[in-house]
Amino acid sequence: YYSSKITVGGKEYPTDEYTNLPPHIEACVGRNLHLSPNHPISITRRLIERRFPAPVYKAHNTLSPIVSVQQNFDSLGFPLDHPGRSRTDTYYINEKTVMRTHTSAHQADTFAAGESEGFTIAADVYRRDAIDRSHYPVFHQMEGARMWSRSEVPNGDIAAAVRADLEKLPKHDLVVEDSGPIFHEGNPLQKAHSAEECEAIAAHLKRSLEGVVVEVFGQAKKAAIAAGEAKEDDAPLRVRWIEAYFPFTTPSWELEVLWQGEWLELLGCGVVQQSIPDNAGTPDKVGWAFGVGLERVAMLLFGIPDIRLFWSKDERFLTQFAEGRITKFQSFSKYPPCYKDVAFWLPSSSSSAGGQVAFHENDMMETVRGVAGDLAEDVRLTDEFTHPKSGKKSMCFRINYRSLEKTLTNEETNALHEAVRTALKEKYAVELR
Ligand code: PHE
Repeated sequence: YYSSKITVGGKEYPTDEYTNLPPHIEACVGRNLHLSPNHPISITRRLIERRFPAPVYKAHNTLSPIVSVQQNFDSLGFPLDHPGRSRTDTYYINEKTVMRTHTSAHQADTFAAGESEGFTIAADVYRRDAIDRSHYPVFHQMEGARMWSRSEVPNGDIAAAVRADLEKLPKHDLVVEDSGPIFHEGNPLQKAHSAEECEAIAAHLKRSLEGVVVEVFGQAKKAAIAAGEAKEDDAPLRVRWIEAYFPFTTPSWELEVLWQGEWLELLGCGVVQQSIPDNAGTPDKVGWAFGVGLERVAMLLFGIPDIRLFWSKDERFLTQFAEGRITKFQSFSKYPPCYKDVAFWLPSSSSSAGGQVAFHENDMMETVRGVAGDLAEDVRLTDEFTHPKSGKKSMCFRINYRSLEKTLTNEETNALHEAVRTALKEKYAVELR
């Protein structure tokens, strides 16, 4: 399916058996929604950036999405068998080059550059994933980090310096449920850090991120009140810290916010694994990092019901938003859905071992995106079974075709569906049922 070279973001790269970046994904490179001032993703980015001001934090918002496997995975200590590395989850340009799957891909380089004590990185990230109203294969994240240098403090003990910086941060009116001890066996302290250092870094991290919640959800609440969706009250926001695991931080947490009666996972964070600054040539640096998804936040700030809308070029969407303002999205209409099923037998070679690549749900997603693009709203596996005698595997998927911009005619959806069927047959040699 690929010739010997592909062009991504205007540059040519050699292809190999790893290459799996389809044209409809490549087409998103350079859209830069996070840099379009009147776009909800950019407005959300700016809102969060306010909590990480210069000169302590330097904002890096134009880093290329094309990174090496070393940057995206190796530098962060991802084990070789980590599922995130697989071609079913990640877009490979070739064996050594991927579309970044997270903004953490730039941590090591940014530490190495050593331009500031802290940084934020907002960017588009790419993941092969499900198709539904909250998943899109290209989305945006913001990374943030704050480092302290052992070489700049007496005895190389940064605990006092971190605590002094913590005192400078504003305290927030927030109800916080903590996760228990800062570190323990299951969420361990690193050998390179003293208990006091880790506790101080964690306290600075948590206070900083609670500030993000106050900033973002304070605005969300104002917008909801203005739209008549919520009543004015002075109940403080509620957040909770949940222990988490990332290969590149320990201890690690996720931060959740109680929003309209539901706990919402907002971000991942933790104390940076010392091997990262060590390998980046800045072993005297110690600190924290976090990563937050921007779409999730923007959907709730602006009341945007479908993630595809962010990519819309429709004036009825784009003209609704203005820099620095949180306003509720006015839906321009909801067009009718059209559900269609496709069922097929997988070729026997792909259900058994034997070196063949098995058919993955994400291959279905990619096929539908390739044919229908943003006209596919939702794709679900509705049935799956293995024939007891032949051992052959059957799958059935339900696709919901719906445009955000118009009513699709029967002819149009039939043609799309027929094209999906043909693509499945040609690419994966499935036997349609
Ligand atoms: N990169 C992580 C993700 O995409 C988030 C993260 C960033 C976690 C930095 C810890 C520190 O899920």
